[in-house]
Amino acid sequence: MSLADAITLPPQVSPPAVTLDERVPHAVAGAEVIALPVLPGESLMLGPGAAALADAASDLDLLGILEAEHASGKAGEVVSYVVPGGVRGNKALRRILLVGVGAQRPVDFRRAGVAVARATRDLSTVATTIPALDPDVAVEPFVVGVTLASFSFDWRASGPVHRPVGSVVLAELGSAYDGSLSRSVAVATAGWRSRFLATVPSNIKNPAWLAEQALTIADASGLKVKVWDEQQLAKEGFGGLLGVGSGSPTPPRLIRLDYAPPKASRKTPTVALVGKGITFDTGGLNLKPGDSMTTMKRDMTGGAIVLSTMAALAAVGCPVRVVGLVAAAENAVSGSSMRPGDVLRHFPGDKTARTSEVTNTDAEGRLVLADAMAYAVAQVKPDVIVDVATLTGAIKVALGQQVGGLFANHDVLAAILEGAAEATGEPLWRMPLSSTYEDKLASPIADADNSAGTPQAITAALFLQHFAGGLPWAHLDLASVGDTPEDRDEWTKGPSGWGARTLLTWLGSPEPLAGVV
Ligand code: BES
Ligand code: MN
Ligand code: ZN
Repeated sequence: MSLADAITLPPQVSPPAVTLDERVPHAVAGAEVIALPVLPGESLMLGPGAAALADAASDLDLLGILEAEHASGKAGEVVSYVVPGGVRGNKALRRILLVGVGAQRPVDFRRAGVAVARATRDLSTVATTIPALDPDVAVEPFVVGVTLASFSFDWRASGPVHRPVGSVVLAELGSAYDGSLSRSVAVATAGWRSRFLATVPSNIKNPAWLAEQALTIADASGLKVKVWDEQQLAKEGFGGLLGVGSGSPTPPRLIRLDYAPPKASRKTPTVALVGKGITFDTGGLNLKPGDSMTTMKRDMTGGAIVLSTMAALAAVGCPVRVVGLVAAAENAVSGSSMRPGDVLRHFPGDKTARTSEVTNTDAEGRLVLADAMAYAVAQVKPDVIVDVATLTGAIKVALGQQVGGLFANHDVLAAILEGAAEATGEPLWRMPLSSTYEDKLASPIADADNSAGTPQAITAALFLQHFAGGLPWAHLDLASVGDTPEDRDEWTKGPSGWGARTLLTWLGSPEPLAGVV
């Protein structure tokens, strides 16, 4: 067996197929499980589908079951009731799930979706009226919850431990919700895809592999794509990417994807999304200790988010042009690694280009992002730049593992991103770009020191700000939330892919740049 065979990824599980069906849930052919919403209150209430079910199974006392189980109706609570012989009209039905929807906010419907996913794994079909309770609010969060809580990644001889439920039927919802469903599936799939990409181990995932993923995405989503290999990077002066990637036998790549809305004109504004694509971060010669290195296969989460977002822009009806850039490199240790004290010249590599003194080879993310941002400013000429990166351990110290860091030089852009993040369940907290720390970036020999010291999340953001060309710019430092320590809500233990939903919620809104350009 060749080395290549030994490291071939086995086929992975697919997300559940989500469809609409006008019928009541127990009438959906093949439904082994139905999930009905439970509304809290003085006395509990059951949502759509319950009355029809009572007609089909007159001996079923659902409210009695809830009472016996001391149910409260809080979001995500599940009471499971087995019906061995099925019901009239559906002999295949085996189980009824009574699922709390709490205050019926988006977050409550997301939790209800999560609960349905966890209660139906390894089964074939569940039909539910939970979104039918309030479709305009519920469809997207429910679909996101039921999809993302179904995620798994397996590379075992014995195959996946669990499989997602095969099919989720949104009952009592007709084709009027087709558009809403396809948009919701696009957002959920972007979360799934970014989690998948971040989870792939780095003995498969190198910069060229990431570039291949971009080609596949471009093909499937009708995007323009361009990939720079190491020779082209050298020719065009991408010194940051080349320096960081110099220690690895798998050389760096710059990936560019272009999206234009169907009605684009010369006036249509452009957003540049720039992702950190470090396919493994050893720290370089400033080697990380073992414990800090174990999760570093997902140091390309920013890049994964950019690729996954690009793939879904058409499906969410994004009205602006978007150019996605992923700066992909492996920060490895070898005789050809960049050294502490080396000076790198960023894009475009000529006399005008900024230089960085590498005082710490583990502060590599900003070196590759700098090149991609400088390229974006000079060549893409966007109206807005947003970079996404697992940039600093310090942001994790500041915010913990359930809130991401947001820096911005523009208040409206910051507020829009905070709002989108909150709405979709990926909260961000705005951090200060305090210019008082600007002095710390000084290097005795270069334009900046790449490791300017504390406060590290802020000095990293200040370093990047020099490459934003004075444009409205936001920087998402997602090192805090890139990994989920245990299954929680829609997250499964491991890489989170956090951020794709936020970017799509923003870019899929009717006027993403209102008040910004
Ligand atoms: N990839 C890391 C940041 C990171 C830390 C991501 C923890 C996820 C979890 C980044 O490249 C890094 O090593 N940053 C250093 C910067 C320091 C050397 C200035 C850090 O934060 O310690
Ligand atoms: Mn590092
Ligand atoms: Zn890193």
